[in-house]
Amino acid sequence: MHAAFAGLEPHFLAVEGHMARALEANELRVDGLISDLGTFHGKMLRPALVLLVAQALGSITDVHTRLGAALEMIHTATLIHDDLIDDANVRRNQPTAHVRFGNTTSVLLGDYFYTHAFTLVARLKLPDVSLRLVETTNVLCRGELQQQCVERDAAISESEYERIIYGKTACLTELAAEFGAAGSNEPLRLAAANYGRACGMAFQIVDDCLDFTGDPYKVGKSLSTDIERGRMTLPIIRLLSGASPAERAAHERRLTAPTGPDDVAAFREAVIASGALASALSTAKDHVRRAQEALTAFPAGTARDQLQVLAEFIVARDF
Ligand code: IPE
Ligand code: IPE
Ligand code: MG
Ligand code: MG
Repeated sequence: MHAAFAGLEPHFLAVEGHMARALEANELRVDGLISDLGTFHGKMLRPALVLLVAQALGSITDVHTRLGAALEMIHTATLIHDDLIDDANVRRNQPTAHVRFGNTTSVLLGDYFYTHAFTLVARLKLPDVSLRLVETTNVLCRGELQQQCVERDAAISESEYERIIYGKTACLTELAAEFGAAGSNEPLRLAAANYGRACGMAFQIVDDCLDFTGDPYKVGKSLSTDIERGRMTLPIIRLLSGASPAERAAHERRLTAPTGPDDVAAFREAVIASGALASALSTAKDHVRRAQEALTAFPAGTARDQLQVLAEFIVARDF
């Protein structure tokens, strides 16, 4: 486990326990599906944000581990649906849900994860917290929809890309950090939200770079799906904006009307050769710097140090 997560193991176990109990269906066939997904563990970034911020600003309570479980379930729901949308076959080094159970079952499974996350939080009887969770899920769904609307659209601006990744990724990490700071004063809550948002922005940009250069065994999921599906990610936007008019026309043709795998491969090579990945990574590092600046409002201590390390891990990671 990475140093940023040191000491979190017992809390992660509590998070996993809350998830398992929340998802219990008391119906043999449905419980069979959920237990087949049992190895469906990821990096636990969203629970880690709740827990480390809670620790940095006070202490970790049962409410924090429940909130971490709910966020991880929302995240998992988005991944189950995302893999179907992106036609991805591998996730967390396992065949994806739609490969294992079929498209229909995986749509229903994603819904099942969403609704149980909402129930878990509603049971806490904290109306403001429940409202923030559903509002954030609305933003998340809007981000995924907006991404779908700009498929293969070479005219997308960087500011629209930023709004999309805020929606699909950074609004959830922002909420995770905000949940960790729930009992603190307004300036600390704001600092936590800024930290979580900046980490999420950096995280998605790095993910978009890993789609080009990651090792599929290390990353544990299908890669190259962004070009195949015409996802307008930052490396692609930077390739287009840095190209000459003639090069740009050739890239746009391959992007908007690929004639086969050769076009996809040529486009991928062009992104890698162009310096667009280094340029995108430098933007991710700017977000990490913003995240680390936000942390200066937190009291000094081990948990704050771990949050600093976590922000660095986000851009240094290869998985
Ligand atoms: C993958 O998220 C989807 C993105 C937001 C890029 P993670 O990389 O956090 O996935 P897991 O939970 O570790 O599998
Ligand atoms: C999806 O983004 C992020 C979600 C919130 C579902 P990606 O499509 O880039 O995520 P991966 O690469 O499949 O994990
Ligand atoms: Mg995907
Ligand atoms: Mg991706």
